[in-house]
This record gives sequence, structure tokens and C-alpha cells, in this order.
Amino acid sequence: MKILVTGASGHLGAKIIEYLAENMPSSNIIAGVRDTQSEKAQKFTAQGIEVRETDFDKKDTLVQAFQGIDRVFIVSTFGDVESSIRQQTHAVEAAKETGVVQMVYSSAPRADVSDFFLAGIHRVREEIMKESGIPYVFVRNNWYVENELATIQQCLNGAPWVTSAGEGKVGWVYRPDLAEATAHVLTGEGHDNKAYELSGENLTQQQFVDAINEVTGNHIPLLTVDDASYSDMLKGANVPEDVAALLVMTQQGIRAGGLENAHSDLEILLGRKPTSVQEALQQLLS
Ligand SMILES: NC(=O)c1ccc[n+]([C@@H]2O[C@H](COP(=O)([O-])OP(=O)(O)OC[C@H]3O[C@@H](n4cnc5c(N)ncnc54)[C@H](OP(=O)(O)O)[C@@H]3O)[C@@H](O)[C@H]2O)c1
Repeated sequence: MKILVTGASGHLGAKIIEYLAENMPSSNIIAGVRDTQSEKAQKFTAQGIEVRETDFDKKDTLVQAFQGIDRVFIVSTFGDVESSIRQQTHAVEAAKETGVVQMVYSSAPRADVSDFFLAGIHRVREEIMKESGIPYVFVRNNWYVENELATIQQCLNGAPWVTSAGEGKVGWVYRPDLAEATAHVLTGEGHDNKAYELSGENLTQQQFVDAINEVTGNHIPLLTVDDASYSDMLKGANVPEDVAALLVMTQQGIRAGGLENAHSDLEILLGRKPTSVQEALQQLLS
């Protein structure tokens, strides 16, 4: 069975390939990247992993790359609704034309029903896959612990942990766990047309800060503010306006419960307990 992983130059895709390579011959793994001449692409080649160009904005690259492929991992990309529809349509059309038998897509928590501001685009992309008739699997990834690294660094340098998310909980997950679970889906059986909610233990902002303090021995304080003050603080720190708006929407979404989720699917796919937030922080901050 041949498996192609798109977004192989990215953090998630590269890790999926790493886990696949532990369990199947390199000759059956294909790394899909936009830049086939990059250093990352050359590393795959050196490992005996074939590299093919996969750019969701260029359907012809997908049709070429999916030749002879059985299963494809489709990485989500950041963009507006229009580009998401175009890219996902290119992917499913290419899969149809080349006879791909399963597409695995990295989606968002409860993408089919969630009000969280990022869920809508994933819902549209899931729908395009469902309508294609090609067997699909949605791995609905919750918030990476890794997303917080820059903030954690600022806090270790003396800043408080500022939030307007109130008591909202997040099912923070360690990205390598998501990659490992996805690799299990790509190599396993019985996953067709399923959606897996891949979340870790649900924690409040205070509980997350407690975990950082426990791991680092620091005493980072939590500063609870309202959305307007949070936004002002970001602007004061010269965060670009569009990024600040996204960060405020994230806090609002968390407060409304948008990233709190059931979390048994990850353990089932991994066949072990997921990495705890403490363990993940230990790995990331050591
Ligand atoms: N759950 C979360 O907390 C969270 C956080 C951040 C992102 N995400 C989403 O999850 C995805 C995977 O995460 P990650 O950590 O691997 O992100 P990442 O390291 O930024 O990797 C993104 C990958 O997508 C590829 N890509 C972007 N646009 C593309 C296009 N038009 N055609 C083909 N490939 C394209 C990139 O290729 P290049 O190297 O050529 O740019 C890169 O390989 C992200 O793309 C994003 O949608 C989720």
C-alpha cells in the first residue's frame, strides 16, 4: 500500500512520515511538498522516501502526485473560505481521477457543529470530502500545546499569563501524538468515513499555567481581563491588528467552550494514554 502525506514539509506532516517510516518500508511512503528542492525535501530523499510536488492551488501537481497512491493525508491549510473550497475541490478531484481509496483530513474539533470561528472552514472542507464519495477519515485535531510556546517564553521572562477566556477549557494536545494517531489511521483498517475527535485532557487557563509552573518551577501569575483589555494589550505589544483580532476570537471561542471536547478517541487510536500537558511541556521546554 502506498501512502502520500501532503504538507510533509510542515510539523505535522513530517512527524506523520516519521511514524509511518517506523512501521512500513520507506518505498511505500511519498512526501508531498510544495518545494521539491528544499532542504526538507532532500532529507526525505536521503531516507529513501520519494518526494512529489503537491500544491493545493495547482490541481495538476495533485493529479501527478496521486498516481499509484492508495491513501492520502490532506493537511489543512490556513486561508479564507474561497481558497479552502478551491484547494479541497482540487484535492478530491485529483483523488477521483487517480483512484485514491482513502483521504485522511486534519480537521478541527466538532467541525460539523462547532461555533468556534475556525470550525466553519473545516466544516466546508469536510463536506467537500463527504460529497466526493471517496472514503474519508477526519482527524479533528484540538489545540496544539506547541501553539503556546511563544507565550510561555514571554512568561518565563517575567510576563503574566493574560487571558479573557474565563473558565473555558481547552483539550490541549501534543502534536506528535496527533501525528502518531494519524499514522495509525493511515496504515490501519476500519476507519473509513469516521471522524475522530483528537483532544487531550480539558484544562482551564489556570490549570494550564499551573502545569507550566509545575514543570518549570516558576510562579507565573494568571491575569484575567475582558476582551477589550486583552485586545488593547495586544495592540500595545505591537501585535498586528489582524493577528490580534484572531487572538481575541480565540479567547472568546475558548470561553464559549469551543475547544473543550471529548478525548477518548486519541487514546483509542494511540493504544496508550496520550501525552499529558505536563509531559508535553517537559519535552518542549527541556
Ligand atoms: N490544531 C492546532 O492547534 C493548529 C495549529 C496550527 C495550525 N493548524 C493547522 O494544522 C495544519 C498542520 O499543522 P502544522 O503544525 O504541520 O503546520 P505547519 O508546520 O505550518 O505546516 C503546514 C503545511 O501545509 C503546507 N501548505 C500550506 N499551504 C499549502 C498549499 N496551498 N498547498 C500544499 N501545501 C500547503 C505547508 O507547505 P510549505 O512548507 O510549502 O509552506 C506545510 O507543509 C496547519 O496547516 C493548520 O491548518 C492547527
